[in-house]
Amino acid sequence: MRAVDIIMNKRAGKELSREEIRFLIGGYVAGEIPDYQVSAWAMAVFFQGMSPAETAALTEVMLRSGAVIDLSGVPGPLVDKHSTGGVGDKTSLIIAPLVAALGIRDPMMSGRALGHTGGTLDKLEAVPGYRTGLSPEEFKNILIRDGFAMTGQTKDIVPADRLLYALRDVTGAVESIPLITASILSKKAAEGAEALVLDVKYGSGAFMKNPADAERLARSLVDTGSAMGKKIIALLTDMDEPLGRMVGNFLEVEECYDCLDGKGGGGSADLMEVSLELAARMLILGGRAKDAGAARAQCEETLATGKPRELFLANIKSQGGNPEEFLKMKGTYRSSHRGEITAGEEGYISRIDAWKTGHAGVELGVGRNRTEDPVSPTAGIEFLKKSGDRVRKGEPLMIVWGKDAASLEAALPGLAAAVEYSPDPPAKRNLILKEIGGL
Ligand code: URA
Repeated sequence: MRAVDIIMNKRAGKELSREEIRFLIGGYVAGEIPDYQVSAWAMAVFFQGMSPAETAALTEVMLRSGAVIDLSGVPGPLVDKHSTGGVGDKTSLIIAPLVAALGIRDPMMSGRALGHTGGTLDKLEAVPGYRTGLSPEEFKNILIRDGFAMTGQTKDIVPADRLLYALRDVTGAVESIPLITASILSKKAAEGAEALVLDVKYGSGAFMKNPADAERLARSLVDTGSAMGKKIIALLTDMDEPLGRMVGNFLEVEECYDCLDGKGGGGSADLMEVSLELAARMLILGGRAKDAGAARAQCEETLATGKPRELFLANIKSQGGNPEEFLKMKGTYRSSHRGEITAGEEGYISRIDAWKTGHAGVELGVGRNRTEDPVSPTAGIEFLKKSGDRVRKGEPLMIVWGKDAASLEAALPGLAAAVEYSPDPPAKRNLILKEIGGL
């Protein structure tokens, strides 16, 4: 077999066999097939798609590219959630301690910033000392002790996704339904979760720009995951505007801690709404609640006890950070390169474009342009106003921090252009569009 023939077969729209997929992915992970051939193949998949059988084979081959974490013996229910990616999309850091406080165990394997979207691992590593490259043994011990543990793809676990994810990111091959399906489900199968809630996002800040494509992705995820024996629910959620008050690595960890205050999450109502709906589905899949209404009520009662916040801090300690230091850094750990966006018009903010915000975030240093680029822990954006707010011309709308002066300067025009205004209040956004799959 030759990699070039496999690339040409896919380019011609042919269905690849499991052997061809195994040859290509296996050769890539072994260092025998170079990046340039795999990126050409990924681009061919991007344009030609994959059949359900190919998608299932790719998922399986990626999963088998490394070790699978054995969570047998860990008392369940083992339920996780994963998002297809967004801007300010930080629900994992709220949901994991919340459902853990309700008796679910959440073994969470996440990714890094991809394209214009943020990455859970980059956010967590903004907390000094926090380690996301856990060994399977550490992952299991922390999961048992704290009720959740956060790790990433390593050279041992789903190495194929670690390589392919980074390659797609820098070669324009992210927004492909089969590649996203295999990337997410290989990680999720390797981490040992029995059930999975998927947050499939649509809108300018998502990889799927409209609800119809997001629904196609959700169905691919639910069908492929169900065939692998997982219980799955997918929610289609709005990602046309950034979620919450912050975009940035440390900033987002900080916002999640604030959201666990048991008083409704401060100014992050949209973030809390999506987090609670996802957490509710996790309780249903874990057999802890009969319906979403009852599950949400349990989540709200538990937030009021303060237990999720304690677990959040316990996890920082378990994974190498210092909770006391984190609390001291809160509110001040920011880059010294600071700017502001002020209102260009009088009226209501009708929309803040998530895609433009995400790109500005990459410019600021929140995300990366090349695989090897470091991300900045202290760069980011704080929204002082969001859509629906009335503003006066010249009023501050955002505080912005860049990793250096040049990146700050480069990001400001794009951020100003992300804000849209209207003379009348905009219609209320519907954050949750549809539920797919289920018990
Ligand atoms: N999230 C993932 O884990 N993989 C993708 O390809 C896209 C989003």
